[in-house]
Amino acid sequence: MTTRERTVVLFVALGAAGIFSAALRAQAPRTVWDGVYTEEQAKRGAVLFDKECAQCHGPSGAGGSMAPALTGQAFSANYDGNSVGDLFDRNRTTMPPGKEGQIEAPDNAAITAFMLQANAFPAGETELPSQSMMLKSIKYLAEKP
Ligand code: HEC
Repeated sequence: MTTRERTVVLFVALGAAGIFSAALRAQAPRTVWDGVYTEEQAKRGAVLFDKECAQCHGPSGAGGSMAPALTGQAFSANYDGNSVGDLFDRNRTTMPPGKEGQIEAPDNAAITAFMLQANAFPAGETELPSQSMMLKSIKYLAEKP
């Protein structure tokens, strides 16, 4: 190989490494601190929460005599290190008692978005998806990393 050829090979390799590391960064796991729902979605969720959940969990999920709070440290500790998909599935498969699985997925995503907002996680530009597979890739972290 001539020096010139070596230089070309080196630059191609460096370019590939750059693309590769950019791809890795793009895949860094998203967390609830990255703005994973929109304000508007949480507003829709608040209306649904009022209708379907607040009679037991209290307004804004602050807790009632019938059911635990869905906000605060004790709540967040239950999901810390898990995924938003776990919370979504918990809502979808166990709530409201007696009507499990009857809330449509997009409505359930809106309710989950409202719960993230009630727990002071920031809103962002894109809506929370309503497929649990996609939600599994968003990490629930109680403390800001
Ligand atoms: C009829 C009363 C009732 C209604 C309505 C209700 N829940 Fe619950 N919920 C409970 C009770 C009781 C518990 C605690 C026992 C259990 O875990 O099943 C609970 C537990 C939960 C938990 C687990 C809390 C934790 O710390 O992990 C979540 C999440 C939840 N509810 C979400 C919802 C959502 C969202 C709705 C509305 C779509 C809702 N619930 C409607 C009674 C209710």
